[in-house]
Amino acid sequence: MTTVVVVGTQWGDEGKGKITDYLSEDAKIIARYQGGDNAGHTLKMNDKVYKLRSVPSGILYSDKVSLIGNGVVLNLESLSEELKRLHEQGVDTSNLKISNRAHIILPYHIKLDKLQEESRGDSKVGTTNRGIGPAYMDKAARIGIRMIDILDKETFAEVLKDNLDQKNELFTKLYNSDPMEFDDIFENYYQIGQELKDRVIDTSAFLNKEINNGENVLFEGAQGVMLDIDHGTYPYVTSSNPAGGVSTGAGVGGPMIDRVVGVVKAYSSRVGEGPFPTQLDDEIGDFIRERGHEYGTVTKRPRRVGWIDTVVLKHACNVSGVTHLALNVLDVLTGLEEIKVCTGYELNGKVITEYPASLKELSNCKPVYKTFAGWDQDITSIKSLEDLPHEALEYLDFLKNQLGVSYSTVSVGPDRSQTIPVSDVWK
Ligand code: GDP
Ligand code: IMO
Ligand code: MG
Repeated sequence: MTTVVVVGTQWGDEGKGKITDYLSEDAKIIARYQGGDNAGHTLKMNDKVYKLRSVPSGILYSDKVSLIGNGVVLNLESLSEELKRLHEQGVDTSNLKISNRAHIILPYHIKLDKLQEESRGDSKVGTTNRGIGPAYMDKAARIGIRMIDILDKETFAEVLKDNLDQKNELFTKLYNSDPMEFDDIFENYYQIGQELKDRVIDTSAFLNKEINNGENVLFEGAQGVMLDIDHGTYPYVTSSNPAGGVSTGAGVGGPMIDRVVGVVKAYSSRVGEGPFPTQLDDEIGDFIRERGHEYGTVTKRPRRVGWIDTVVLKHACNVSGVTHLALNVLDVLTGLEEIKVCTGYELNGKVITEYPASLKELSNCKPVYKTFAGWDQDITSIKSLEDLPHEALEYLDFLKNQLGVSYSTVSVGPDRSQTIPVSDVWK
């Protein structure tokens, strides 16, 4: 039995979906443990492209169990649409299970997300407007509505009425906006709940039983460590814990986790507002954005891009216990004359290597770079590490040594097959 967690080490969109799909081959169960449909994961297999938001990225394997854990906030409408799209693409989703304790995103969360963002003006977070923050707010405030509550008509009616009364006070009195109608939400959500009913189980009990029976389990994190509500660039973060949230979000004890695969982009990207010390606002940035198709899956916003940052990566490896690196999008760097790696920040005449908690300090940090030679050869068909250009190998070696963690895979293209295996995380 081995358990493996996939975690994004930067600001999301590192290619976690691709790596989860790749690692799923050796797992029996693939479980999402946090976030919601703010996530957008793209999988590519034999020229077919699959877009996922709430459904775990192991879903292309019909013989595996895909599971949405209690730590996820679930938009039932978008989940239904996602399942419909997958069926149209010929994907069998009958093995998808949903936690009875997962909290539900309701239309008033989405409305509140938008109103909160508008009221923040220039200091807006740049959220995906999917209601993620407000849904986690209600969970922490102990007024949230869980999957189990939606299945029972009376319970759902009662908790929805209480919640809606409170939210409508906010909408009308604080935000000077329209109230929302009970009937518009109730029938629709009750109906979708009934359609999903047979998938709802105690996912934690299920996972613990399977792990104790010796099965391999893969846990899929959404977002990335720098968007973690505790360890990210607060307040420019999401409202959950990609780093380390697996125990609470899947209901498995910490000691049951064997390996943590940190997914790393060969450069950095960020969508939404917030600090990004190595951001490139020049033609190199444009080159990387176009070559890497760096436009958000959920919101279509152009992603901000920059050089890779080992201050960020060391922080991410520490706080989420990374045991292996899955380095992605190496091919996107092909054709650059020089490639830079940030090794520290210059702050008040000193070089620091720990990520500052203070946004003010961070805004005064100047990245210190080490420069590497680039390569021109097409690397997208390379199947083994030693066939990469020596410049690429030097870059990879430097990162590995800086972080003190070795690679599980190096990825040279979006397709499942464009993945160079380096070491087996299941052994
Ligand atoms: P996630 O949110 O972490 O799952 O990442 P996204 O799917 O949002 O964004 C990663 C993008 O990079 C997707 O379009 C992937 O298909 C693509 N991708 C993943 N790995 C590679 C790679 O090695 N090379 C290239 N060119 N694209 C990749
Ligand atoms: P995946 O799983 C990149 C960002 C938003 C915003 C901040 C808060 O595809 O890597 P939220 O809607 O969560 O309250 O927004 O977090 N964000 C992501 N950025 N990838 C994601 O997911 C993201 N999910 C949220 O852009 O800056
Ligand atoms: Mg994404």
